[in-house]
Amino acid sequence: MNAVLTVSDLSVTFRTEDGPLSAVDRVSLEVGDGEVLAVVGESGCGKSVTAMSIAGLLPRTATVGGSVRLGDTELIGAGKRTLRSVRGREVAYIFQEPMTSLNPVFTVGHQITEVLRTHIGLGRQAARARAIELLKLVGIPSAERRVSDYPHQLSGGMRQRVMIAMAVACDPKVLIADEPTTALDVTIQAGILDVLRGLRERLGTSIVLITHDLGVVADLADRVAVMYAGRVVETAEVHDLFARPRHPYTTGLLGASPAAGRHAGSHRLNEIPGLVPVLTEQPDACTFADRCDRAIDTCGSSQPQLTSGTHRVACWNPVREEVEAL
Ligand SMILES: Nc1ncnc2c1ncn2[C@@H]1O[C@H](COP(=O)(O)OP(=O)(O)O)[C@@H](O)[C@H]1O
Ligand code: SF4
Ligand SMILES: [Mg+2]
Repeated sequence: MNAVLTVSDLSVTFRTEDGPLSAVDRVSLEVGDGEVLAVVGESGCGKSVTAMSIAGLLPRTATVGGSVRLGDTELIGAGKRTLRSVRGREVAYIFQEPMTSLNPVFTVGHQITEVLRTHIGLGRQAARARAIELLKLVGIPSAERRVSDYPHQLSGGMRQRVMIAMAVACDPKVLIADEPTTALDVTIQAGILDVLRGLRERLGTSIVLITHDLGVVADLADRVAVMYAGRVVETAEVHDLFARPRHPYTTGLLGASPAAGRHAGSHRLNEIPGLVPVLTEQPDACTFADRCDRAIDTCGSSQPQLTSGTHRVACWNPVREEVEAL
């Protein structure tokens, strides 16, 4: 695979009042050219922190180790200048809450043209024309008129489209979409997903898509990484993961039947009894052990590592039954 983004052994620890909190623990991910990688897992598993590390958006309280490479550029430990030139141009980020990320006092056109003028130095006229083009690209009707609207004049779905337009304004190689439809109505979600699909098809943008929705995963992703307690516990091509989930956490998320994800129109991750642990130190056990019905002795004394290959799993006693393929 021709990797556009390579994350290797990424670890993120936060300084907190209760001591260090390990949010991401040696995560490795690869995203190929034009590929959509879905990242799934319950709340608090480190998905957003991973995404923020890639986009260089972590707060100062974070200590980061490992490597995040965009093409030939290393982002971990890079200076402000490198980060500034990469952010927006090479990698862009769509937040979950479009209203909090748009500035209410400027028109959407102004906000998009600002991005274009500062990042690629377009003149006023050219930037405005490009802003309208971008609004059309993300499916905003009457873009010529809408470009003069303020954020509050737009619906939630339209604001999210504007956010996507801003994110892709400089034609980034990698777009990170962190639960881009979670705050939106179900009927609006499909439109946003069409926009993402269109970006990949028309611009060849690679996408890291964080989502709770298995329907979205089945629909849009090429590969999936399942995160639990700051680690990737399973990763595979999307069909393989749905047909042959191996980690007990993955089978739990997919529901009692591993086939649950296949027919999903909009299918949320299954609830699993118990809580995601908050880690303050490296445990000497599988972090899923107290929720797992497949635990064996080894699970309590040693942390499993990811296997190699295209379907990787970190588990001492993975599910082996082959389920009928799709
Ligand atoms: N700025 C921060 N300071 C301290 N802890 C944080 C901070 N941001 C996230 N965390 C913690 O890191 C862990 C992973 O969070 P996050 O990546 O947001 O989870 P997810 O996106 O998978 O729901 C959680 O335990 C969360 O409380
Ligand atoms: S390593 Fe053991 S406890 Fe952890 S998920 Fe696998 S079987 Fe369950
Ligand atoms: Mg999150």
